[in-house]
Amino acid sequence: MKGIILAGGAGTRLYPITLAVSKQLIPVGDKPMIYYPLSVLMLADVREILIIATPADLPQFRRLLGDGSHLGLQIDYAEQAHPGGLAEAFIIGADHIGTDSVALVLGDNIFHGQRFSDVLAEHAGDIHGCVLFGYAVHDPHRYGVGVTDEEGRLVSIEEKPARPRSNRAITGLYFYDNDVVNIAKNITPSPRGELEISDVNRVYVERGTASLVDLGRGFAWLDTGTPESLREAAQYVSILEHRQGIRIACVEEVALRMGFIDAEACHALGAAIGKSEYGQYVMSIAGEFGR
Ligand code: DAU
Repeated sequence: MKGIILAGGAGTRLYPITLAVSKQLIPVGDKPMIYYPLSVLMLADVREILIIATPADLPQFRRLLGDGSHLGLQIDYAEQAHPGGLAEAFIIGADHIGTDSVALVLGDNIFHGQRFSDVLAEHAGDIHGCVLFGYAVHDPHRYGVGVTDEEGRLVSIEEKPARPRSNRAITGLYFYDNDVVNIAKNITPSPRGELEISDVNRVYVERGTASLVDLGRGFAWLDTGTPESLREAAQYVSILEHRQGIRIACVEEVALRMGFIDAEACHALGAAIGKSEYGQYVMSIAGEFGR
């Protein structure tokens, strides 16, 4: 399975923070926002990843993550000149996807929960159709919203409905079979000229091959769209990290635990930024693995 992180857009609701810096590069806690969705793909055992961003922002992403080889990944980059919609990712990324299945994650979505890697492993395998991840929210009108039958099959999907038919938001993590490229090429742009992900998902719903995995109430799916939600996300991360002495979305640790790099390489990554507490944490994790 290939991976795509969509990290474009202007982040206008976060101005002036995002006037000069991409939203997906600003910090959440002690690390750049993109570390969170990147670690989600890594936990799903996805190692070939395309990062899509604006032409102005791409150089900074490249500077941060390079070709990904230090994390045992292959990271490539592509431009999205104008926000043409989330589903444009499959057109921009068509060569990257090739004949494979694909996981798309939005660069501003933060997921955290116990056994998340098990949930991902369970669904990332052989995909026929699409797998969406639902999360109960109090304000579903702000999101894509799904309604399911008893077997968990989606029977309808609506983008930001004024009167939502369920409280089940569709999160910004999506698994698709290879057909998604063709589907994205054939949907009609919205009145705003965007290729909507919900229109792609609706095709799978109509085919009866869309499933919705419920992320339960013990799970965190955090918003980063406004200064307040960004602050709350950072608080959530730092409270857990401080209380448990762990780090959420430490990509070096994920690479080590997934077997993408060995303890020696992990230690070297920590040492390179060893003046920070983050770097020291990376070194200590390498130590636990026998370095
Ligand atoms: O976060 C989950 C939600 O994401 C879903 O529930 C919705 O169904 C889905 O449409 C999307 O809604 P948003 O209102 O969050 O979409 P937004 O336009 O804000 O884009 C989400 C992120 O993707 C944002 O960080 C900017 C980036 N983006 C967006 C567009 C439209 C791009 O990189 N390129 C784009 O063309």
